[in-house]
Amino acid sequence: MKILVAVATRHGATREIAEHLATSLGSALTDAGVAPEVEVRDVGLVTTLDGFDAVVLGSARYLGRWLEPARTFAESFSAELRGLPVWLFSSGPVGEEPEPEDQAAVDDLVRRLGAREHRVFGGRIDRQALRFPERLVVTALHVKDGDFRDWPSIRAWGYKIGATLAAAAVAGSTS
Ligand SMILES: Cc1cc2nc3c(=O)[nH]c(=O)nc-3n(C[C@H](O)[C@H](O)[C@H](O)COP(=O)(O)O)c2cc1C
Repeated sequence: MKILVAVATRHGATREIAEHLATSLGSALTDAGVAPEVEVRDVGLVTTLDGFDAVVLGSARYLGRWLEPARTFAESFSAELRGLPVWLFSSGPVGEEPEPEDQAAVDDLVRRLGAREHRVFGGRIDRQALRFPERLVVTALHVKDGDFRDWPSIRAWGYKIGATLAAAAVAGSTS
C-alpha cells in the first residue's frame, strides 16, 4: 500500500510532524501484515498522485492560514484527492491563541475533498530561525520560543490512520 504524506513547511517543524506520522502509519500497516510504502514529500514537489492509495496533507499555519503551496496543492489535485482516502493536519498553535481565521477555510476543504479528518497539532517557535518580519510578528503577539509538538498524539494519529487503511486493505483482499 502506497501512501503520500504531503507537507508544506517554512521552518521545518511541520515536516518533522509529517515524518513522525509516516513512521507510525508504516508501523500500523506492518503490524497488520500490509507492506507499507510511505513517502513524505514537500507539496511543491508532488507532480502526480498516480499510484498512491491514500494521502495525508498538512501545512504550517501562518497568520491564520495554511501556506500557499498547500492551498495550491489541495486545489490542483482536488479531483484526485476526492477519489482517495484523505486526512488533513495543521501545525501552528504555539501557546494561547485565538481560534484561527482559517478554520472555516479548512472546514470547507474537509468537505470539498471528503477528508476523513482534520487534526491540529502544536507547532514550534525558534526566534533564531525566523526572518526579521516574522520575529516582529511573534514579538508583537507576545509568543515565546518553544516546541509545542505533542509527539505521542502525533504518533497515535499516524498509527490510527495506518490501522484504518490496513483494515480496509485486508477487508478488500478477502471480499
Ligand atoms: C510570523 C508567524 C506567524 C504565525 N501565525 C500563526 C497562526 O496564525 N496560527 C497558528 O496556529 N500558528 C501560527 N504560527 C506558528 C507556526 O505555525 C508554528 O511555528 C509552526 O510550527 C511553524 O511550522 P514550520 O516550521 O513547518 O514552518 C506563526 C508563526 C510565525 C513565525
